[in-house]
Amino acid sequence: MKNVVIVGTQWGDEGKGKIVDLLSEKADVVVRFQGGHNAGHTLVIGKKEFKLSLLPSGIIRDKTISVIGNGVIIDPLHLIKEINDIENKGIKITSNKLIISENCFLILPIHKFVDKLRENSQSSLKSKIGTTGRGIGPAYEDKVARRGIRIDDLKSEQSFVKKIKKIYDHHNVWIAYNKINQLDFKNDYKEILKAYELLKPFIKNSWLEINGYLEKKKKILFEGAQGIFLDIDFGTYPYVTSSNTVAGNAAIGSGIGPSNIDFTLGITKAYTTRVGNGPFPTELEDEDGERLGNVGKEFGTVTGRKRRCGWFDAVMIKQAVMISGISGLALTKLDVLDGFDEVKLCFGYELESIKINYLPLNETDQMRVKPIYLTLKGWKKSTLGTEKFSDLPEEAKLFVKKIEELVGCEVTIISTGPDRKNTIILKKIFD
Ligand code: GDP
Ligand code: IMO
Ligand code: MG
Repeated sequence: MKNVVIVGTQWGDEGKGKIVDLLSEKADVVVRFQGGHNAGHTLVIGKKEFKLSLLPSGIIRDKTISVIGNGVIIDPLHLIKEINDIENKGIKITSNKLIISENCFLILPIHKFVDKLRENSQSSLKSKIGTTGRGIGPAYEDKVARRGIRIDDLKSEQSFVKKIKKIYDHHNVWIAYNKINQLDFKNDYKEILKAYELLKPFIKNSWLEINGYLEKKKKILFEGAQGIFLDIDFGTYPYVTSSNTVAGNAAIGSGIGPSNIDFTLGITKAYTTRVGNGPFPTELEDEDGERLGNVGKEFGTVTGRKRRCGWFDAVMIKQAVMISGISGLALTKLDVLDGFDEVKLCFGYELESIKINYLPLNETDQMRVKPIYLTLKGWKKSTLGTEKFSDLPEEAKLFVKKIEELVGCEVTIISTGPDRKNTIILKKIFD
């Protein structure tokens, strides 16, 4: 395999960072293709832990080139901070190692402000989306509305000032309507230009670079952020993020043709979590849910919010496999299920006494579907750190096999702990 896309198959936080880091040992290039610093990807290497939001998860490796592709939106002030944080942990980031696409759109301070104001102005907790508050929605909206600013626009201060003024004027109308003081672009634009000066050495024509790697037959990993059910088209709308998180967007967000993708790896937690509002058919609001959250340390990497937890939902994963053309699954956090007397797999839903095998489109229906479970015997032996399938307890092996059967897709990797090493490789992704 040469070119592999990695996507989350649930509502994010499936362990994409860990798997990308692991596979980047054999990859030449890692490309992020959508989202922004709403993502929080955790890498654990021995005693060191790295939390990445914008930097691709290959950045820790000396020989891997990391590309922030054109589909990513960048808060330049945050990116500078993230680069500094990672450098302070002993990782050198040079322009040979990091490429930032010149056509990434910018997240401006007013986007963050509007994102938070919108959430805070919702009359009830339920009507909030529960965004990360990082300006993702408003920034992608400005891109589509054709008033966005790309990194390349920072080349000319004069034209940048014109463009930023237009964006601030646009959002200030609604800010004033909320009887809140308007924001002045003059307070913000100089900071952005300062950040641009620091980022300049990394800014390149990324699609040309990536197509050059393809020509040279380099191995490329395309690292998705969020998960399929947060996708703007296929997710649980409106409780979604504002980009396409499905594998198809790897091509658009990096400037390659879809025929260049050889394999799509879907990252899937052995149970389900969600941070933020929205439907969640297998959610557990009981002791089992609490236990999954505590053992799995389910707190948002970006916002620190408690993640909602529930059983594995094979209906959703089957849907994700279809929509994203997933070739194999990486099943993560199997160890978190250690010690349960019983473990459950949802394989269908009931909606008004009718059995269905997909997540319906309608928000109200998504809230009303009742999961139908297959209950399996749990396992008492610890699986933490297991590196061989044959060393797993029989019940855990059966759990994995049942997932393959219900989803109709093979499990190629099993993750048994946060560390790079805590992994069972069932099928080699790269030679
Ligand atoms: P991402 O957004 O998909 O990269 O996932 P996050 O990093 O937000 O959340 C996954 C969390 O689970 C991180 O804290 C990881 O260190 C941790 N993790 C990843 N794989 C495993 C695993 O197999 N077992 C356990 N116990 N933790 C894991
Ligand atoms: P990674 O890449 C989990 C969720 C937010 C909210 C919704 C919209 O770490 O898996 P946004 O700020 O994007 O407008 O928020 O999407 N969300 C994530 N949930 N993991 C993520 O990224 C997420 N990025 C956004 O919680 O429900
Ligand atoms: Mg995350």
